[in-house]
Amino acid sequence: MRDIIIVGIETSCDETSVAVVKNGRDVLSNIISSQIDTHKIFGGVVPEIASRKHIEVIDYVFDKAICDAKITLNDIDAISVTYGPGLVGSLLVGLSFAKALSMSINKPFIGINHIEGHICSNYISNKNLTPEFLALIVSGGHTNLIHVKDYGKYKIYGRTHDDACGETYDKIARALGFEYPGGKKLEASAKLGADKYIFPRGNILNNIYDFTFSGLKSHAINLINKLKSKNELSDIEKNNIAKAFQDSIIDTLVSKTINLCNELNIKKIAICGGVSANMAIKDSLNKKAKENKIEFFAPKQILSTDNAAMIASAGYYRFINNEFSDLTLNAYPNLEFSEEINE
Ligand code: KG4
Ligand code: ZN
Repeated sequence: MRDIIIVGIETSCDETSVAVVKNGRDVLSNIISSQIDTHKIFGGVVPEIASRKHIEVIDYVFDKAICDAKITLNDIDAISVTYGPGLVGSLLVGLSFAKALSMSINKPFIGINHIEGHICSNYISNKNLTPEFLALIVSGGHTNLIHVKDYGKYKIYGRTHDDACGETYDKIARALGFEYPGGKKLEASAKLGADKYIFPRGNILNNIYDFTFSGLKSHAINLINKLKSKNELSDIEKNNIAKAFQDSIIDTLVSKTINLCNELNIKKIAICGGVSANMAIKDSLNKKAKENKIEFFAPKQILSTDNAAMIASAGYYRFINNEFSDLTLNAYPNLEFSEEINE
């Protein structure tokens, strides 16, 4: 079969990214322009600024992706782009760019759910990974347990009832005084912490595979405020709190993922999303998976957080199934993954 070249475009939050991927798994280029430095001073992403920044850089990012991949516009088979979930203004920049490109080079266009993109990041980093497997998606906006039955065929088993895992990391990191996005800094702090505190584990009674992080968040913030009021929030205490917080997250993610895998008799787990950059979470899940004779997969660090290569990979599996989008496709900030279910 001839090679299929897909251009992926991702602008759902604060990364402007364009990638060129061959046959769904071979990255020819993956350019990521991050806006983190711009948003840092505000302590989080400012939507209006994010969309303006995407407009400023998307032409340059696209040209560089094509140039680095050493292809011409004629080599492109299709353009895939994130159409939700995400910030509406940001999504519209990528979506409009993709539609214009599709019309100008007369090649099909494919709208991709951002979460499906995160799942596909694992196909790029792990050439031997094939469905079926259980995907644990842990990002700034999402926390899901999804049974990947086949390429593009999914069943959701778990979702968060309140904050997403990465969002909880960012909020606790902020309360501890770490810069946005604080996940990585909180992980580094936890590494230095001692076992001084035990924080609650969130469980949902009517679906044991759903997640809740609000109780953990309140518990941590109350302790931080109490120590602050007594002028006792030292660096050592920050590390102890970070450790107790991360231990709770790890316990919850690992136990729910392994239990569901065993219940469904699935032999592979793939973690993905920004929080999957966390080594402590990956090591614990990998260790428990091994004990249960389950294979463990994770994307490379650069493919854990938002990038367009994962969107191009997802686009490839739609392309080979002749699944294309209409140019009337809109951006959906609250796009549900369940809308994509194809059982
Ligand atoms: O997938 P992503 O780039 O964006 C969304 O789709 O939401 O995820 C970003 C999230 C942020 O909340 C960030 O703090 C978190 O991933 N993150 C981490 C680590 N690196 C990034 N969380 C915990 N530990 C890390 N090492
Ligand atoms: Zn993401």
